[in-house]
Amino acid sequence: MTSTLVNPLRAGSRLEDTPQPASIVIFGATGDLTSRKLAPALYNLAVDNLLPPHFSLIGFARRDWTNEFFRNEMREGVEEFSRRPLDETLWAGFSQNLHFVSHEFDVPEGYDELKVLLDKLDQERGVPGNRLYYLATQPSYYPVIIEKLSEAGLAERANLRDDGSTRIIIEKPFGHDLDSARALNDQLHRRFTENQIYRIDHYLGKETVQNILMLRFANSVFEPVWNRQYVDHVQITAAESIGVEGRGRYYEESGALRDMMQSHLLQLLNLTAMEPPAAFDANAVRDEKVKVLRAIRPIQGNAVMDQVVRGQYSGGWIAGEQHDPYRSEANVDPRSSSETYVAMKLFIDNWRWQGVPFYLRTGKELPKRVTEVSIQFKDPPHALFATNGEANLEPNVLALRIQPDEGISWKVLVKTPGVKLGMRPVKMEFLYGSSFGAEPPEAYERLLLDVLLGDSTLFTRSDEVEAAWSFVTEILRVWDQLPPPDFPNYDSGSWGPREADRMLYRDGHEWRWP
Ligand SMILES: NC(=O)c1ccc[n+]([C@@H]2O[C@H](COP(=O)([O-])OP(=O)(O)OC[C@H]3O[C@@H](n4cnc5c(N)ncnc54)[C@H](OP(=O)(O)O)[C@@H]3O)[C@@H](O)[C@H]2O)c1
Repeated sequence: MTSTLVNPLRAGSRLEDTPQPASIVIFGATGDLTSRKLAPALYNLAVDNLLPPHFSLIGFARRDWTNEFFRNEMREGVEEFSRRPLDETLWAGFSQNLHFVSHEFDVPEGYDELKVLLDKLDQERGVPGNRLYYLATQPSYYPVIIEKLSEAGLAERANLRDDGSTRIIIEKPFGHDLDSARALNDQLHRRFTENQIYRIDHYLGKETVQNILMLRFANSVFEPVWNRQYVDHVQITAAESIGVEGRGRYYEESGALRDMMQSHLLQLLNLTAMEPPAAFDANAVRDEKVKVLRAIRPIQGNAVMDQVVRGQYSGGWIAGEQHDPYRSEANVDPRSSSETYVAMKLFIDNWRWQGVPFYLRTGKELPKRVTEVSIQFKDPPHALFATNGEANLEPNVLALRIQPDEGISWKVLVKTPGVKLGMRPVKMEFLYGSSFGAEPPEAYERLLLDVLLGDSTLFTRSDEVEAAWSFVTEILRVWDQLPPPDFPNYDSGSWGPREADRMLYRDGHEWRWP
């Protein structure tokens, strides 16, 4: 398949084309996210000449680093994780824009120092710049940073022109349940207007995730069949082959339902199921996404037992390597009831999707790393080609491959060569790599550029994040009362607990092997 990609999101929704002068302050800049993702993303934007002419990055964290030390650390991050090699000349210019403020998050002097530095940078460039505060810290620090920014006069709504020139970026997870998400939204809204708040779900920055919208709404062939009349069911899988990788403490608090399902998988569901928005702008797109979340039939009480399966890995072998059980990981309770796998069946109660099951699953230590959305279509109404059982009558499947091997595959039945009547499923494949011959930008590149440009289409709005938590919190309530009796219940390297297979068998379906 060959293709020409039009990008209505990029074309239609930005407030401006070139970012205005800006200072980005990263709270938690000595952490893993900054060196692995944020510094390489900003560097790659510089490579593409997409950073504003007067740009500065200020790291804020506890460690006693100098500007010079921060620059060296960021350089190492870029050298190790950038998709493109470091260019000495470019780096020399880029690194001069990096500064560091060393303070505890709860100490007012740190924010005074920050304010002095931001004002000085504004003065040097001769124009007041955008200020972007990136909260790349443990979520427990969000409230104190928001308060201290405000006390220092760096965030107060009253001081703002409400033109979006001050923006705040919040990393995931946004809340722990519905109440905590609401409390965080309330706190943010006391200091910032909604159009200044950018809640990141980095899945939305992936090219292939955005392509779900392109495929559906830039082509005319899909819309007529994208509904209950033609779609039998939908499967969304986000599988990881790794375990918790030293993040046991975080995972004990979180689990797969909060960590993956509430955010990434529900976002994929939204984009797959939403109605066409009236326009490609931030509010029109997000209005439609929220409608999907609100139309999901709540899974409550006994339905949780029938429609949701949780699992925890018991150790085993993946690709020739032995893996320990989750309960033996560092900082994990040996009797932990945190789930490392969750699968669910849900329904969307609206005109388009009534009665169509959506099966979602995500887990750690599964056989491979793969994320895909697959739309399985209904069988034709009449079996025209009687084949005496010789043919393999598999349904049409449209698989949208999010990662890796990004692309789309379309499974159709064709006649096998020969004089006998025979049919076989074949796949028509489109692969990003071979069609475009270029590596797509990292999700954080796109997202950081969007914040600089003031485009919040790919960020989660407050009502959206609360609607997602509202759905998930009902399930958590039931789980809190009924600890899992059978953990650990799946081998590392398997596709999860048997119960997840049985959930689909009962409906006459089975999981795809992506
Ligand atoms: N890492 C990833 O790939 C990734 C991916 C998606 C989302 N996230 C989210 O991004 C956020 C940050 O993750 P991370 O992995 O970068 O975390 P991390 O490695 O634990 O870094 C935490 C940062 O917070 C700073 N910090 C902690 N306590 C502080 C205090 N009292 N005062 C001042 N600074 C303090 C640390 O500074 P010091 O080192 O100076 O103590 C460090 O810079 C989390 O919300 C995470 O869920 C991370």
